[in-house]
Amino acid sequence: MNTNQRVKIALQKKGRLNDDSLTLLKQCGLSFSLNASSLIAECTNFPLDLILIRDDDIPSVVNSGVADLGIVGENVLYENVVACFISQNLGFCDCRLSIAVPSQIPYSSVSALQGKRIATSYPRSLGRYLTANGVEADIINISGSVEVAPRIGMADAICDLVSSGRTLRENNLIEKDIVLESEAVLIRSRQSLSSRTTDELIAKIQIAQCGRAI
Ligand code: PRP
Ligand code: ZN
Repeated sequence: MNTNQRVKIALQKKGRLNDDSLTLLKQCGLSFSLNASSLIAECTNFPLDLILIRDDDIPSVVNSGVADLGIVGENVLYENVVACFISQNLGFCDCRLSIAVPSQIPYSSVSALQGKRIATSYPRSLGRYLTANGVEADIINISGSVEVAPRIGMADAICDLVSSGRTLRENNLIEKDIVLESEAVLIRSRQSLSSRTTDELIAKIQIAQCGRAI
């Protein structure tokens, strides 16, 4: 075990998780400076490097041991089917992965989607949900602006993240079924289970997290 080694934590570069992740680290008393284009930042008062990447890449970067820790949404973990160890739920970035349909479409249960086209950025999560419910549908994989798909004739329904519900309302969509409830979690690489510095950082995060929850 090399206790002098610097710990690496993978964080979302841009998006909803980014702000809360950085705030949590600052509440741990960690000092670092970042600008909008930073991809890596060195902490000046703890042996820690922040790696800023797309959230979709965080599970594999942690799983492979390139980073020791990561902060990511459960939705991303579930979609990427990577066997990461969840160290702690962080209580921010609450959202749900839901199926929604245009308000004029009748929908009493998920079986209404049989044979329909569903646009999503979460094809595996949706596919598992449909299979579990015995529904065969055409999953259309798009990487963003999913809610526009029914309006442009690309799909009959969507499956996307819902937080405030504003995007659904703006696009005249009604939330019907929840595929997954999600929040940000701290994940730990199985490769770094013996690092004392990683343990120290996790303890700091737990203490800061308790402070936030009070
Ligand atoms: C996310 C998500 C939903 C929306 C939900 O999109 O994919 O579209 O936010 O938030 P709300 O319920 O509070 O409106 P994002 O803004 O990340 O854009 P993208 O999906 O097009 O990347
Ligand atoms: Zn979206």
